[in-house]
Amino acid sequence: MHSAHTCPAVAPSIPSAKAQPPEDFRWPEGGVSRVPFQVFSDPAIYAMEQERIFRGPVWHYLCMELEVGKRGDIKTTWLGETPIIVTRDADGIVHAMINRCAHKGALVCLKDRDNRESLTCVYHAWNYGLDGRLKTVAFQNGLRGKGGMPEDFDPSRHRLEPLRVEVYCGMVFGTYSAETEPLHDFLGDSTRAFMERNMKHPLKILGVHSQMIHNNWKLYAENVRDSYHATLLHTFYTTFKVNRLDMDGGIVLSDKKWHHISYSKRATLQAAAEYKEANVHSAKFDSDLEGPELLKAWEGFDDGITHSIQTVFPTLVMQLTLNSLAVRFFVPRGVDKTELFWVFLGYETDTPEQEHMRVMQGNLTGAAGLVALEDGCINSFVQRGTATSPDRAAFIEMGGRVAESNESSRATEAAVRGFWHGYRNIMGF
Ligand code: FES
Ligand SMILES: [Fe+2]
Repeated sequence: MHSAHTCPAVAPSIPSAKAQPPEDFRWPEGGVSRVPFQVFSDPAIYAMEQERIFRGPVWHYLCMELEVGKRGDIKTTWLGETPIIVTRDADGIVHAMINRCAHKGALVCLKDRDNRESLTCVYHAWNYGLDGRLKTVAFQNGLRGKGGMPEDFDPSRHRLEPLRVEVYCGMVFGTYSAETEPLHDFLGDSTRAFMERNMKHPLKILGVHSQMIHNNWKLYAENVRDSYHATLLHTFYTTFKVNRLDMDGGIVLSDKKWHHISYSKRATLQAAAEYKEANVHSAKFDSDLEGPELLKAWEGFDDGITHSIQTVFPTLVMQLTLNSLAVRFFVPRGVDKTELFWVFLGYETDTPEQEHMRVMQGNLTGAAGLVALEDGCINSFVQRGTATSPDRAAFIEMGGRVAESNESSRATEAAVRGFWHGYRNIMGF
């Protein structure tokens, strides 16, 4: 949050900690290997998350820097339930602020993207600079000497409420809290190194879309850390040998365990009989695609990694599956609804053929992707299965009971436990 000396007049709109867990709430025995189903459907816990996580000392992805690439660019987004404006001002500086007029609280920016010299609220035409400072108030001095604001009205004391902003690897992050550590430290070494591998290139946006999924936001946070399900639920991955547990791969948790990287190397596949023994339906058949070009890929890196999912706590995901590069982030829309956003990316240096391959592979994931639609579906099955049993808990012991990296196997729920480690830490559970 702004510090008092830079922004003395901004009303303290961020409430101090006051949301409380339900009276009877206790985390079950078993630590991070148990997750009480109550956390997926309890409105009091949901309200607490908005305060402690989304308004708390955590960095949150806001948008791609490319979406505010030019001076005057404006992008609207969300931080938890709060509408946010990201801008690039005339000096090229990126700002983020709450999309809430300092007058009566109306949304100031209504479009997804825009380019303007200033921001004007449609309600009473208060006008703000791209840095969020109030420039003019319509009829501040009234009309013909009558009406207007009181003598002591000081526009510099009323502005759009700013967020702290940092830009890293082409992504804009924001936080409300003055206590949030620098982004560099929040991410940690392993997370930064792999982000740089995939994202520190001249990026290009190939397409964006969003979808509503019918589950609590944390079920999606779990799902993207769940390397155990990836080749069981997603039969396409198994059938067409895109990503399987019998390829070399592993799970790397960040220093704090909150973020993770899951990776596999397609060329190392040694088809294990266990797939058939585990009753993995699709491992029993040979299939062909009518459009085999969907799986045509080139090796962009020399480390052999052909599939990776990387998360940054709480709601950011970066994927590079074959050559399909995308950023996903998800926004809670109520206790049992989540909006999932996808930004598909390429590099400026891609040849037209490479770009075509990335776009083609976008059919694997995304709202209508052959793989990702199963995730939206399965998360809603968990939401429906758990909603009426708040007193029961998930059993998450695959690969052990603690949250630790495992560079030899992805038959583990280590990264899921890592998420809950972070969640409990910040929620005080
Ligand atoms: S609410 Fe924005 S100008 Fe009145
Ligand atoms: Fe999945």
